[in-house]
Amino acid sequence: MHTTMPASKATQYYLDLEDRFGAHNYHPLPVVLEKGEGVFLWDVDGKRYYDFLSGYSAVNQGHCHPKIIEALIKQATQLTLTSRAFYNNRLGEYEKYITSYFGYDKVLPMNTGVEGGETAIKLARRWAYTQKGVEDNNAKIIFAEHNFWGRTMAAISSSTDPSSYKNFGPYMPGFELVPYNNLPALEKALQDKNVAAFMVEPIQGEAGVVVPDEGYLTGVRRLCSEYKVLFIADEIQTGLARTGKMLACDHENVRPDILILGKALSGGVLPVSAVLCDDAIMMNIKPGEHGSTYGGNPLACEVAIAALQVLKDEQMTENAAAMGELFRKEIAALNNKHIQLIRGKGLLNAIVVAHPNPEAAWDLCLALKENGLLAKPTHGDKIRFAPPLVITATQIQESVEIINKSLMALD
Ligand SMILES: Cc1ncc(COP(=O)(O)O)c(C=O)c1O
Repeated sequence: MHTTMPASKATQYYLDLEDRFGAHNYHPLPVVLEKGEGVFLWDVDGKRYYDFLSGYSAVNQGHCHPKIIEALIKQATQLTLTSRAFYNNRLGEYEKYITSYFGYDKVLPMNTGVEGGETAIKLARRWAYTQKGVEDNNAKIIFAEHNFWGRTMAAISSSTDPSSYKNFGPYMPGFELVPYNNLPALEKALQDKNVAAFMVEPIQGEAGVVVPDEGYLTGVRRLCSEYKVLFIADEIQTGLARTGKMLACDHENVRPDILILGKALSGGVLPVSAVLCDDAIMMNIKPGEHGSTYGGNPLACEVAIAALQVLKDEQMTENAAAMGELFRKEIAALNNKHIQLIRGKGLLNAIVVAHPNPEAAWDLCLALKENGLLAKPTHGDKIRFAPPLVITATQIQESVEIINKSLMALD
């Protein structure tokens, strides 16, 4: 089995600091990063790595994208926060930009992804009471098993992963689960007249990049319309060019009623999330009924416009589609006995590691780190490979060589 090099003095110093003074709610790979540019990261000893995590798909545009950083600096010297107690001269421009970019009447700006999810659920519950005629306090939201949408009490209340919800109860009522990628089960659940919405990831990211059958999203759209239930698409991880389309829902040309975006909406610069929908849903929330101090702040607005603009200007959707295909082809061609399968769309991919040792995926990530590529296991035996969307064909080939070499650690 692979053994890692001992940490350098500088690395050990920072590992010890976090261990001593920070909560132990993460289990990071032992690498301490200090610089990022494009697809690369550098550690405190000056060693360079390919970033195959992209901050859980927040850094789609590449680290420190010059246009996004320029927008950040320019706005940071002008005005950063007003709160929504007053108008500012950036928010309306951003709202106009993002609603026409995605084709919805309105946007509700928030910060983190999980707040986007919370907002979507509040919108759906409110719509159910005021528009669908559901009796007060009876609205239900349906989720798919193995979903992941964050760490708040509501998010963990819909989780099927004990490491998310165990010993944090009591949980939020009004949530129900159906198996993912299962339309008959969804139809059965939607027959309940109290159902307000079905909230789903078009590809389940944290579950290990689980891609549903073709036609699933089309079926979800059809069933939601038929039973007058809102289709909420959580595109926080799958959206913004990651899967080779601007939205993962675009693969089947379906339009969700409520769209949640986050992560790459700022290119990894600030927490920026957004909930988009039409007036019939959005206008049910009135002044004073929802908000956030930082939501829609001028700095976030300018960063988000730049982050969305560079996706289009630099054809990142097309590059993600082409480079993803190349990556899956090259990995499959390795024909390595430790790779049970590779799956994904665009540059959101995962391998399932086949090995008797349950720690094999972690060991492989340590070997990858030694060889200059950073990735993280998800759910034990899966490793997500999701580099920034600016990666080139040569860089994909070099990365696959690193993966190939690292796999020897499992022999
Ligand atoms: C699909 C999905 N939704 C929501 C979230 C939560 O986002 P955040 O961590 O910004 O709250 C995540 C985070 O990984 C995610 O993958």
